[in-house]
Amino acid sequence: MNMKRYGVKVYIKTFGCQMNVYDSEIMAGLLLVKGYEIAEDMNEADIILLNTCSIRKKAEDKVYSQLGVLKKLKEKNPDLILGVGGCMAQREGKEIFKRVSSVDLIFGTQQICNLPTILNKVMQERKKVMVIEEERIGPEEVKAYRKDKAKAYVAIMRGCNNHCTYCVVPSARGRQRSRISKGIIREIENLAKEGYKEVTLLGQNVTAYGKDLGGIDFADLLERINEIEGIEKIRFITSHPKDMSDRLIRTLPRLSKVCEDLHLPVQSGSNRILKDMNRGYTREAYLKIIGKIRSLIPRTSVTTDIIVGFPGEREEDFVDTLSLMEEVRFASAYMFKYSSRPGTPTERMLDQIPEETKLKRLHKVIDLQRAISK
Ligand code: 5AD
Ligand code: SF4
Repeated sequence: MNMKRYGVKVYIKTFGCQMNVYDSEIMAGLLLVKGYEIAEDMNEADIILLNTCSIRKKAEDKVYSQLGVLKKLKEKNPDLILGVGGCMAQREGKEIFKRVSSVDLIFGTQQICNLPTILNKVMQERKKVMVIEEERIGPEEVKAYRKDKAKAYVAIMRGCNNHCTYCVVPSARGRQRSRISKGIIREIENLAKEGYKEVTLLGQNVTAYGKDLGGIDFADLLERINEIEGIEKIRFITSHPKDMSDRLIRTLPRLSKVCEDLHLPVQSGSNRILKDMNRGYTREAYLKIIGKIRSLIPRTSVTTDIIVGFPGEREEDFVDTLSLMEEVRFASAYMFKYSSRPGTPTERMLDQIPEETKLKRLHKVIDLQRAISK
C-alpha cells in the first residue's frame, strides 16, 4: 500500500555530477507528492538518503566516510533510516550492507521512480531492502523539486553506449536510453511558464541523443528547444568528440539561445592512449573539430577533461597531452589522475602507472592549464 507519509522528514545529500543533482531533485519531487517533507538539516531528518557517485575511488571513499558519520547519528537515534542510492549503490550493491551495517536501503540508478514504494517497505516491514534492477521506464514525467527558480537541469538521455575502458558509468548507469522528445519539450515549456530562463540539458553523452530511438537527433532537439518562448539560454553536458558531427557544429551558431561554452572532454593527446581508452577519435580528429568550431563560432570557449597516468602512459604520451593543451588552449580543464575502477577493462592492466608518477603528471597539467587560463 502506498500511503501518504505526512510529517516524515527526508534529507537528501548529493555526490557527483549534475545528473545526480537532477536525480535528487526528482527524488524530492516524488517524496513531496507522497506527503514527506524535505529537511534542510541532516540532524532533524527521519530519513537520510545519499545519492552517490562512483567515477573515481575518491568519490566512493567520500561516501563511506559520510556513512561513518551517519552511523554515529543512528546510534543516537535508532529510528533513523539510512538509504544509499545512485551510481555507487548500483555498482556496489549489498557490499554496502556488509561494510556499513546501519544502512537500511540500497536503491539503484534506475529505481528512483520506485523510491516511495521502497521506503514504505522499509518502514512497514522494518527490514533491509535492496533494489538495483534495471527499469525500462525513467523518472522523466515526475515533477522535480528545484530550489533554483531561474536555471533548471533537464535530463534528455541516460546511460552510455560507449565503452571507454577506464569508465564505470556503463555499469553504474546502464545502456543509453534517450528520452522521448515530446516529454523533454513539455517539461521545458512548463519550466518557461514557471519563469525559468535557462536550461541545462543533461546526459552522459548528449551528442548521441536519439541514436537509440531512431527519430530526431541532438541537433534537431536543440532546434526545437531553441523555439520555446521564455527560455533565453540553453546549455548542455556532456558532449563526446566522436559524435560532434558537421551537422551539429553547423547547427550550433544558428541557434541564438544555445550558449557558446562547449565542454568537450579530450582525455589524452596521445593517439596510442586514446586507442587504449577506446575513445573512438584521434588527436588529429579532435583538433579538426576544435578548428571547425572556432571558425564557425569564434566566441566559443572550450573546456575539457583530462586523465593522466592511464595504464601504459609513457612519458612521450604525456608530452602529447601537454602539447595538445598548448595547441587548443582550453579556457579551463578538469584534470584527474587515472583511478582504477572495479569491473572496467583497464582495472587489471599490467602496466599501471606508479602513484608518484601520476601525481607529478597531474601537477604538470594543472600548472600548464593555470598558465593558459591566465
Ligand atoms: N579515473 C580518472 N578519471 C576518470 N574519469 C572517468 N573515469 C575515470 C577514471 N577511472 C574522468 C573523465 C571524465 C570525467 C567525468 O571523469 O575525464 O570525462
Ligand atoms: Fe558519478 Fe558518473 Fe554516476 Fe555522475 S554518472 S554520479 S559522475 S559515476
